[in-house]
Amino acid sequence: MKLTLSVIKADIGSIGGHVAPSRRLLETVEAYIHKNGINFLIDYNISHTGDDVAILMTHRRGEGNEDVHNLAWNAFLEGTAVAKQQGLYGAGQDLLKDSFSGNVKGMGPAVAEMEIEERPNEPFLFFAADKTDPGAYNLPLYLAFADPMNTPGLLLSPHMSQGFKFVIMDVNFTEGDRVIELNAPEQLYDIAALLRDPERFVVESIWSRASGEQAVAVATTRLHNIAGKYTGKDDPVMLVRVQMNFPATGEVLTPYAIGHFVAGGMRGSHQMPLMPVAVNTGISYFDGPPIVSCAGYCVHNGMLTERVDNFAQPFWNEVRDHVARKSIEMRRQGFFGAAMLPMSELEYTGIVEKLEVLEKQFVVRPALVPEHA
Ligand code: F6R
Ligand code: MG
Ligand code: MG
Repeated sequence: MKLTLSVIKADIGSIGGHVAPSRRLLETVEAYIHKNGINFLIDYNISHTGDDVAILMTHRRGEGNEDVHNLAWNAFLEGTAVAKQQGLYGAGQDLLKDSFSGNVKGMGPAVAEMEIEERPNEPFLFFAADKTDPGAYNLPLYLAFADPMNTPGLLLSPHMSQGFKFVIMDVNFTEGDRVIELNAPEQLYDIAALLRDPERFVVESIWSRASGEQAVAVATTRLHNIAGKYTGKDDPVMLVRVQMNFPATGEVLTPYAIGHFVAGGMRGSHQMPLMPVAVNTGISYFDGPPIVSCAGYCVHNGMLTERVDNFAQPFWNEVRDHVARKSIEMRRQGFFGAAMLPMSELEYTGIVEKLEVLEKQFVVRPALVPEHA
């Protein structure tokens, strides 16, 4: 019998700015899921990364199931009520629609889901990032699933040697899901040509070519496409199955030691390095830096083990220090050039009106004609 892993996350309010949800908010979401998911959830876990609350669920209902999505939506509504009572900042921030309509996709919360044939032992990783967007995972996924310099399994494992299929989405297209399927390693340069533009082309899923099994599911929501204006960054969640036919946990984690620059940070408008952090970490420097957490689980007959907190391990302290130094270095140049995102990403913010006013004040100076001409 197939098992579905669903993670649905939203920012519904936080303490001290866009920093972290309150304990009561988290307890309220958890209590709601516990009480109302009893008939169809097998297991669940609640966590937060920055100001985003994630509900990880296991069940047999498949992807996009109305009951599962409705449960998460209602849990977020209950949490929002508490956020309002406590005066939390940005209460209900990501609940962009007034009423639930079958599926939380397109309503604000981010969703990553995978229906799988559970292996006898099924390790998987749950990533959650805050103050950045789904393209943040492009580079680490490319390295983990397509580059033998990062992933020796691509050379050493007979299954992984057959490569992986990347499904990549054009997230600027708003009338539907515009996707392309490309195979690694044959189409590596095509994959690279798209993934180099992480604000437009985002890895949506990755599949083993040896077995046809799904390895990765990424939440691809772009909130400004729903709201039409800046309402916060998209703060993507991701599920990654690991080991055997898939990259090992360590191969999937290794790229996060780079601390690569991603879109996000203050007002979602900057380029800042991504810092790997422990689960349930808040936000600080320059409303960032953008952070990513990674909880490892095994699941058996739908029951989750306790989580291992992969980026809490001491190795990552050095990486965090490195990312902090990169953050400070980038911030030294303020809004100039590469420090801030290009206009295409800022067009959902107030700078548009400012530039429109200035546009009208430009004059074209008459060309000077030299006297002796
Ligand atoms: C970025 C983010 C924050 C806010 C900033 C201003 O994703 O959430 O950087 O953009 O704190 O927030 P407001 O406009 O709510 O005061
Ligand atoms: Mg927020
Ligand atoms: Mg957030």
